Amino acid sequence: MEHISVMRDRCVDLLAPSINAHDKSVIIDATLGLGGHSEALLQRFENLTVIGIDRDLQAIAKAELRLASFGERFKSAHSVFDDISGIINNFGFSQINGVLFDLGVSSMQLDQEARGFSYSHDAPLDMRMDQSTGITAGDIVNTFEPGEIVRILRVYGEEKFATRIVENIVKARAIAPLNSTVALATLVKESIPAATRRTGGNPAKRTFQALRIAVNDELGAIERAIPQALARIVVGGRVVVMSFQSLEDRIVKEIFAEASTSKSPRELPIELPEYAAKFKLVFNSSEKPSALEIEENSRAASVRLRAIERVAA
Ligand SMILES: C[S@@+](CC[C@H](N)C(=O)[O-])C[C@H]1O[C@@H](n2cnc3c(N)ncnc32)[C@H](O)[C@@H]1O
Repeated sequence: MEHISVMRDRCVDLLAPSINAHDKSVIIDATLGLGGHSEALLQRFENLTVIGIDRDLQAIAKAELRLASFGERFKSAHSVFDDISGIINNFGFSQINGVLFDLGVSSMQLDQEARGFSYSHDAPLDMRMDQSTGITAGDIVNTFEPGEIVRILRVYGEEKFATRIVENIVKARAIAPLNSTVALATLVKESIPAATRRTGGNPAKRTFQALRIAVNDELGAIERAIPQALARIVVGGRVVVMSFQSLEDRIVKEIFAEASTSKSPRELPIELPEYAAKFKLVFNSSEKPSALEIEENSRAASVRLRAIERVAA
């Protein structure tokens, strides 16, 4: 299935004010994917340069092809987005007008059976967004200490039956390495009490989510990248983030809350400028897509969009 960009026009609208306020603007698309959001931005604003980051070489190659007609206005970087500050420097910019994060994996990645993201297709247990480097999900299940695998399933998958699943992983890997998605999905299903199996979708979903987050250090990358993005935007510039699960959204919410809260000591009767928050939330809480968008693109159902704006240097 082709990847459909989620809340595309809303993201472009949110990034528009700072782009329109400057003769030349730069936006970082921190999760380039197939370049759907970048394309919409480049089409709408003729004065705009977009730097697209992705850790997936295939995504970069496809996006470069799609965006070739924009020439020098589109630049790409193969990297994890937690190097956002270094990438901005490498392209010779000091400040930028906005950053967009459309977190998680693309439909292209999910649909490529051989990459092992999906429990419904048999494939090697890989799950790396960047197949040129790093550990695989197979490395985790076959070599990590049982206690560490339990922690991964509990924290990243919110899996209640983590201990039972890991006991069975340990038994299985003592006989032969667990190398396939379907073998793991079957083991997870058999580790979960029959009554629970009947509710709440495929029981392997939480384990697969947890392993994917661990393999790609997804939460760590977000924690490191958003503060860098905030540090590099101009006054009036915005950071827009779409999260697709609650662990990601919680991190974004906390960083945005901290950045938009005054540091003024309580005992001071007035707020001195040095304590005032340098950022404000563009809207309280998070936004969701319309019912129509969810109907047309089921991937949009779980999205939470948040946006923050720099109000002082
Ligand atoms: C949901 S897709 C983006 C889709 C894109 N906005 C579009 O409209 O075509 C997310 C992309 O971000 C990439 N990605 C996710 N986490 C990343 C990270 N920490 N660093 C760099 N790229 C990342 C994935 O490889 C994937 O291609």
